[in-house]
Amino acid sequence: MASPATRVHEDGYTPEVAARTAPLYERVKRVVPAIEWPVFAPDIDAILRLKRERNAVVLAHNYQTPEIFNTVADIVGDSLALAREAARVDADVIVLCGVHFMAETAKLMNPSKTVLIPDLRAGCSLAASITGADVRALKARYPGVPVVTYVNTSAEVKAESDICCTSGNAVKVVESLGADRVIFLPDEYLARNVAAETEVEIISWHGRCEVHERFTPADIATLRRDHPGIVVLAHPECDRPVVEASDFAGSTAAMSKYVAERQPDQVALITECSMSDNVAVANPDVDFVRPCNLCPHMKRITLPGIRHSLETMTWEVDVPADVADRARLAVERMVAIGWSK
Ligand code: 13P
Ligand code: SF4
Repeated sequence: MASPATRVHEDGYTPEVAARTAPLYERVKRVVPAIEWPVFAPDIDAILRLKRERNAVVLAHNYQTPEIFNTVADIVGDSLALAREAARVDADVIVLCGVHFMAETAKLMNPSKTVLIPDLRAGCSLAASITGADVRALKARYPGVPVVTYVNTSAEVKAESDICCTSGNAVKVVESLGADRVIFLPDEYLARNVAAETEVEIISWHGRCEVHERFTPADIATLRRDHPGIVVLAHPECDRPVVEASDFAGSTAAMSKYVAERQPDQVALITECSMSDNVAVANPDVDFVRPCNLCPHMKRITLPGIRHSLETMTWEVDVPADVADRARLAVERMVAIGWSK
């Protein structure tokens, strides 16, 4: 493969930019073709400069594309890690490379910071499935039953909840309440997967992740037939039969940890596409089979978008104070509980 530095210069891909970004290309060369680097490098170079000028840090979710995740991000992780780390950020500005609820959560956790999201259209089908009014109606229907809300929700929904959870700690959060039953919102598949691991009765909602609901047990059977011995890891936003057909289910961080610790010969991550690229960069000896679905919301975030965000200080994410105070409490209670796996 030709060195990216020897290619014809794209607009902005000067010899200086090529030289400054060459060590970053080394990091991603297994997942980013050399021919693409002259397109990415000028934006990466500009973002690194703008971060210094603005005193900004970039937080990126595990589903961000590898050229974002591995070059401009300062902090990467699953939803739980991003919430926890956002609270510790010292810089003036947080650029959240993920979806809108993650940016809102960062703002809740560190309200004095300017939180930017590069594209306001980066939503989430789970967050869109429920409103604060829906939660109030459920509480009226089930008086006294505690409400556990997945972080993939708006701040308004979090504000109506007793505690938040992520896929990394859902069972632990549910059991921490000491209740016989809980209202668990809004992902019906995650609710089913949690219910399978606890004695607590789960009252669920009808939200679904538009990415994970597309995987089927037949996909896993095909993988196992075509790749004997493959290890299959699924995200718990998949339907229960998909999780049951897999070798392990866990949050994006739990999947990364599984691969890093066990180094399977061949693995399939039943989740969003970019995850495999990012885990592959850190685990060069593992062979990844990629039966993946794209999250169109996560893919709204691009290098030109991040650069534009830092140049113009857009789009700022804020949460009204009355909502923020109640939502923060629910997130802080979750962060205090930590991980379950
Ligand atoms: P994690 O918390 O496992 O990173 O999942 C976030 C998400 O959006 C999954 O679709
Ligand atoms: Fe939402 Fe699913 Fe995209 Fe995650 S992958 S942000 S749950 S739509």
